[in-house]
Amino acid sequence: MKVLVTGVSGYIGSHAALELLRAGHEVAGFDNLSNSSEESVRRVRELAGKPLRFERLDLLDAPALTRLLREGWDVVLHFAGLKAVGESVEKPELYRVNNVSGSENLLAAMDAAGCRRLVFSSSCTVYGEVKKNPVDESHPRAAANPYGRTKLDIEDLCFARAAKDPAWRVALLRYFNPVGADASGRIGEDPRGAPNNLMPFVMQTAVGRRDKVRVFGNDYPTPDGTCLRDYIHVTDLALGHLAALDRLDSFAGAQAVNLGTGHGSSVLEVIRAASRAAGRDIPFEIAPRRAGDAAAIWAEPALARAKLGWRAARGLDAMCADHWRWQKANPSGYAS
Ligand SMILES: NC(=O)c1ccc[n+]([C@@H]2O[C@H](COP(=O)([O-])OP(=O)(O)OC[C@H]3O[C@@H](n4cnc5c(N)ncnc54)[C@H](O)[C@@H]3O)[C@@H](O)[C@H]2O)c1
Repeated sequence: MKVLVTGVSGYIGSHAALELLRAGHEVAGFDNLSNSSEESVRRVRELAGKPLRFERLDLLDAPALTRLLREGWDVVLHFAGLKAVGESVEKPELYRVNNVSGSENLLAAMDAAGCRRLVFSSSCTVYGEVKKNPVDESHPRAAANPYGRTKLDIEDLCFARAAKDPAWRVALLRYFNPVGADASGRIGEDPRGAPNNLMPFVMQTAVGRRDKVRVFGNDYPTPDGTCLRDYIHVTDLALGHLAALDRLDSFAGAQAVNLGTGHGSSVLEVIRAASRAAGRDIPFEIAPRRAGDAAAIWAEPALARAKLGWRAARGLDAMCADHWRWQKANPSGYAS
């Protein structure tokens, strides 16, 4: 297939592009480089040993987007967007315009070009405050913060398009907590500034960039008192996109599918697994709970199994070993 990837130089987009190339697809991608470096694309080409066209382009540049879409694509994988929850609370309008208006532009450009097959990066954040674990796709949706609001709004744009025009096939993939890196250690997660997520923080501490990990709360109603999340290896996540491409024709319009492992790991379990991978104790301290953190959330992955024929294969130790290989070889990310 001829696949266009938005946000291709980002963490998940670069891993998806690599798996697409490995599977023999023809891939091109674009990014505005607001949160990534073109070096990731160069390394994906090198790992795959295949061409990967890259354009520096912004979702908000509707005329350029329309021109690019007119080249003719079988399917679009849409990763581009801003994703920092804290920043979204400070700048909700930036998030609305960049993520929602940007996605509206993309859908309009796709429609004008007659490309109506889309895989969108949604998130388990659309479940808001989780009532019951594991969370399946029928769980009510709610916005926990302005970033989450953008995911709900983009899902709704997709539902509305598909309801109006039955030619649309949209997979709304709701990711749980992506971590890890390609097993080569050549590409990986390279957050700008202080990481928002646990794993990059833990790994930056292991490599000596930070002095300790702060564990927010150890009095939650979980086995060891720390929060549980469903961590998923980024390569498994990328392969979930390939499965969605293969099965997109079976989608009835726009449909949501969880991509998770179905298993929760606690903060302390992650720190222990990362310490084993790095071969050193990773220092941490217990800090007060953070407002807005749920005690536990993990996925019901049955629909992904049934509909996509996909399941996550890599466990927490593999996630940590691969993330560590990337972090150790690239202590300052792509700038190393
Ligand atoms: N990483 C996670 O924990 C996670 C979890 C659930 C969902 N997601 C979603 O998956 C997608 C990819 O996430 P990621 O972790 O790879 O993030 P990332 O920041 O590494 O990648 C997103 C890319 O989009 C680009 N971008 C942002 N706005 C753009 C615009 N207007 N035009 C063109 N490019 C733009 C950024 O430069 C970046 O390279 C995002 O939509 C994110 O919301 C991520």
